[in-house]
Amino acid sequence: MIDLVWNFPLMPGQHEIWSRYLAAAFAEFGSQPVESLRPSFRTVEPALRERAAKWLGFPTSRVWLTGGGHHGTLNSLMASGLAGTRVVVEGNTYPGFLDQCWMTKTSIVACPVDDEGIVPEALRELCDRKRRELEPIHGIFTMPTVQNPLGFVTPELRREQIAQIAREFHLTIIEDDAYGFMEENAPPSYALLAPERTYYVRGLAKSLAPGARTGFLIAPENAAASIESSLRCTATGTDVLQNIAALKMCEDGELDSLMKAKREEGARRNMEARAWLGKQCAPGARCAWHLWVRLPEEIEPSDVEAAIKDLDVMATNGQWCAAAPEYRHGLRVALGGEIERERTMEGVARVSQAVQGFLSRIGVETGKYSRSA
Ligand SMILES: Cc1ncc(COP(=O)(O)O)c(C=O)c1O
Repeated sequence: MIDLVWNFPLMPGQHEIWSRYLAAAFAEFGSQPVESLRPSFRTVEPALRERAAKWLGFPTSRVWLTGGGHHGTLNSLMASGLAGTRVVVEGNTYPGFLDQCWMTKTSIVACPVDDEGIVPEALRELCDRKRRELEPIHGIFTMPTVQNPLGFVTPELRREQIAQIAREFHLTIIEDDAYGFMEENAPPSYALLAPERTYYVRGLAKSLAPGARTGFLIAPENAAASIESSLRCTATGTDVLQNIAALKMCEDGELDSLMKAKREEGARRNMEARAWLGKQCAPGARCAWHLWVRLPEEIEPSDVEAAIKDLDVMATNGQWCAAAPEYRHGLRVALGGEIERERTMEGVARVSQAVQGFLSRIGVETGKYSRSA
């Protein structure tokens, strides 16, 4: 089975680099007195937070360590008080966050997006309408840079408009920046544009490695007490060894080199995949390791998933990332499930073949995307 499900990029040989950093962290940590084995918040965490804050360019008082991105978004939901309320998400969104909303009994409202992200007028209309219906919206969950699954990057002006709407309607913003490194000169984050209301989450699962359990959370200045209690509700400390190893890679430039290599390889895979999938692809970041293939409403994404499975390929059917049923008509094709580019492209070619079959059956012009093209 060719795997087009995972969009966590891995470069050949990077496990040797990670092992080297882990070994150094192990040696450094092993030379500490026995008290170092107490939970991280009683030992090294303040010093590690300070290092993280310096790397991220934010004051230490606003920066927290989490056990990855997923842990960061859950804690943002809890610490901000959004859990159990009503939150707007992009119509197609990260399924892990939808799960977190369901588990915390948080209502989800799907917001229309276009090729640049959340449509400000649609967001305003939603907030206004829900307020009149006495079902006010309290927050937004967004991935403005290399969105998952759509791949868009929201331009700065639109981010400012969205931040303004958040101020007008007293919305908290949870910004998940898992893929931000894939866009080299990304516009400013909401942590900068609306620091008073933004919980910014950056796990290292994509930029470093899926198994890396270090994440950063940048919160509003006045959120310290609720973040501390939320973090201790969900875990009694973070993984010190991994944090030491990951922070060292952040500080000495090793992570920068890795991210650069991932951008270069991502750009190549993305371009080749687009050549296969053609005009069905939504526009998206040049270096993204995932693509969204649009499907007309007559085509059920689960049927496409089954057809490509018959061709020995797995990809994510759009219903998994749909915040409302009408957003399910697509397929997320991820380019990081296979280490070898050739195998990835073989999978993409088979997806293209299956999608063309569905499109031609309903009379949609498919263009010239074929093995001989
Ligand atoms: C948008 C987004 N956020 C968070 C995560 C999970 O990150 P982590 O593995 O760091 O918990 C993923 C994983 O696919 C993701 O796509």
